[in-house]
Amino acid sequence: MGMLIINNYNFCAMLALKPGAIEVGGVALDNHLLLAAGILGTTGASLARVLSSGAGGVVTKSIGPAPFPGHPGPCVAVLEDGLLNAMGLPNPSADFAGELDGLAGRPVVVSVFGGSPEEFAEVAAWFADRAAGFELNLSCPHAEGYGAAIGTDPALVEACTRAVASLGLPTWVKLTPNVTDITGCGRAAEKGGASAIVAINTVKAMRISTGLRRPVLGNRFGGLSGPAIFPVAVRCVYELYEACRIPIVGCGGIASADNVLEMMMAGASAVEIGSAVIRGVGVFEAIAADLYADDGVDAATIVGCAHA
Ligand code: SIN
Repeated sequence: MGMLIINNYNFCAMLALKPGAIEVGGVALDNHLLLAAGILGTTGASLARVLSSGAGGVVTKSIGPAPFPGHPGPCVAVLEDGLLNAMGLPNPSADFAGELDGLAGRPVVVSVFGGSPEEFAEVAAWFADRAAGFELNLSCPHAEGYGAAIGTDPALVEACTRAVASLGLPTWVKLTPNVTDITGCGRAAEKGGASAIVAINTVKAMRISTGLRRPVLGNRFGGLSGPAIFPVAVRCVYELYEACRIPIVGCGGIASADNVLEMMMAGASAVEIGSAVIRGVGVFEAIAADLYADDGVDAATIVGCAHA
């Protein structure tokens, strides 16, 4: 039997989208491209810089119930096709509120984490007068008692979502791909009152230095991001789109306008860009220049169009 291998499947002229402000999951955005949590998200100045560099919205570094310095280093390794990190959720906790003073009215989504529904609600409440919405980190793959330790249990996903959504602000839930079936957690978030799902956080991974005969990261295990995980992210968004009704924000290895379109065709209404920012904050303007044209199509006509 003959074997067909496709090595170039983008043989049509690339689509362009109509530019302009949008609304996704209750948050008003300047365009479809957001800064993902974890990169350049720890100071008000860096968030403002990303917003003035073409991002349509920003997500802060995840903030938790107590200040924490993070895991021992090395915390980040640059790989051939991505980044491997185990930062360990370093954060200044409630003191972060001051960083948002100059960003009132801007599309700033505050990423929060906790070890229980009560902690999620407590942390989110600190920022309720400064956030355009919340993103719940139920997905960090390497933080004991936090992130995916909670986010792999649909009952806890639902309870944490409900606790934060009760504050009355848009509540996005960032899911982990490190589960057998991501749709169970997506449905749980929806049931808990989420206004959008963010998919995906990093893929649990590790590398070992053959020279040192030791794991590369201080924490041994970390999360893989960047182009290496893009196909995993597309698959997760595609599955979630069939299982849930709330909007999906695609995240995971997006590095080009064509990646953005592919995510939208899988079912994403907007995207978050993280690892590609290693090329500089100019990545937002560069992607936007390829993605938008005044005679472009309405994004609504392509969101989910890859589904039969
Ligand atoms: C970290 O701070 O370790 C990364 C956070 C995450 O993966 O959600």
